[in-house]
Amino acid sequence: MNTTADQAIHSGLEAARWAPSVHNTQPWTFAVTGEEIAVRADTDRKLALEDPGGRELLISCGAAVFNLRTALRQAGREPIVRILPDPDRPSLIATVRLGPSVEPDEHTRMLAGQIERRRTHRTGFTDTPVPERLAEQWEREAAAEGATFTPVGAPAAVRALAGLTEAAQAVQSQDRPFTLEVIRWARPPGSARGDGVPADAYPKQSAGEFAQRDYAHLHPWGTDPDPRTSAATGVVALLTTRQDTREAWLAAGQALQRVLLHASAHGVSAAFHTQTVEEPHLREFLRERVCDGAYPQMLMRLGITAEEGHGVRRPLTDLTDS
Ligand SMILES: Cc1cc2nc3c(=O)[nH]c(=O)nc-3n(C[C@H](O)[C@H](O)[C@H](O)COP(=O)(O)O)c2cc1C
Repeated sequence: MNTTADQAIHSGLEAARWAPSVHNTQPWTFAVTGEEIAVRADTDRKLALEDPGGRELLISCGAAVFNLRTALRQAGREPIVRILPDPDRPSLIATVRLGPSVEPDEHTRMLAGQIERRRTHRTGFTDTPVPERLAEQWEREAAAEGATFTPVGAPAAVRALAGLTEAAQAVQSQDRPFTLEVIRWARPPGSARGDGVPADAYPKQSAGEFAQRDYAHLHPWGTDPDPRTSAATGVVALLTTRQDTREAWLAAGQALQRVLLHASAHGVSAAFHTQTVEEPHLREFLRERVCDGAYPQMLMRLGITAEEGHGVRRPLTDLTDS
C-alpha cells in the first residue's frame, strides 16, 4: 500500500470513530486488509433491553459508514461501498474500498470539516430561528441516502410528539432493568472511560417540552443552564424509511449523519428524543398516525446553540483488529 492510501485509510477510520451512536456506545470495529476497510458491528455493545433488534445499533453504524465515506473522498479517494455484503456474516456492516482518485467537491469539504466538531445538544436552543431553506436542504440530504427527513411544523403535531416522548420516558424510567441499562452508559464526571454520555453533555434539569433521558439518575450530575440559551424547541423533525430492514436502518444512519454534518456547518445542532421509537406500540402509533405508514427511525429537534461541547471517543487502537 502506498503512503497516500495509508493516510486516506487512517483519516477514514479517525472520522468513523467520531460518529454519533446511541448513548455513545460506539458499537463498531474496523479491520483493514490492503486498501479495504471492513466495518463490523460490535454486538457486545448492543442495548439488550432498549434496542433488542439492533435497530439503533445499525443506525449508529450507518453514521460511522457515512463519516468513513466522506473522509475518504476528502482524502482524495472515491469510496467503493458494499453494504451488508455477506448474508452469512451479519455483523459485517460494510466493506469500503479505496477507489479512483477524486478531487473533493465543496459539499464533501463542508461535511468533512464538521465530523469532529458536531455535537449532540440536550437543552433548549437560542431564539434565533433556523432558516427554512436549511430544513428544505436537509430533506434533500436525507433523500440522497434513501431516507426521508420531515420537519413537523403544525403546533398540534409538535405537542403530540412531545406528549409521546413524555409518555415513553415516564414508562422507561419506571422500568428498573431498563434504567440500569441506560445508566451503565452515563459517564461519571472525571471518568477516564472513552465511551458513554459525559456528565457535562446534559443539563442538571430536563428543560423544554421534550423529555430528556435521565442519564444522571439520582446523581447531582449535569450542567447549569446557559444564560445565552433559551428554552426554544427548534425545528422538530422525523427521520423515516419506507422499509424497516437492516439495510433501511443503515440508510437511516447515513442519512442522519449527512443531515447532522450539513446542519453543523450552518451552526445548527441536534437534540434526539428516541424514547418513543423504542416502544413498539408507540412507534406503531407514530408510524400510522404521523408518518403516513413510513417507519420512524429518529425523532429530533434542530436549532442554534450558543456553546460548543466536547466529545468523548475510544482510541482507534481499541477499534481496529486488522
Ligand atoms: C440511534 C441514536 C439514538 C440516540 N438517542 C438519543 C436520545 O434518545 N437522547 C439523547 O440525548 N441522545 C441520543 N443520541 C445521541 C448520542 O447520545 C450521542 O451521539 C453520543 O452520546 C455521542 O455524542 P456526540 O453526538 O455529541 O458526539 C442518539 C444517537 C443515535 C445515533
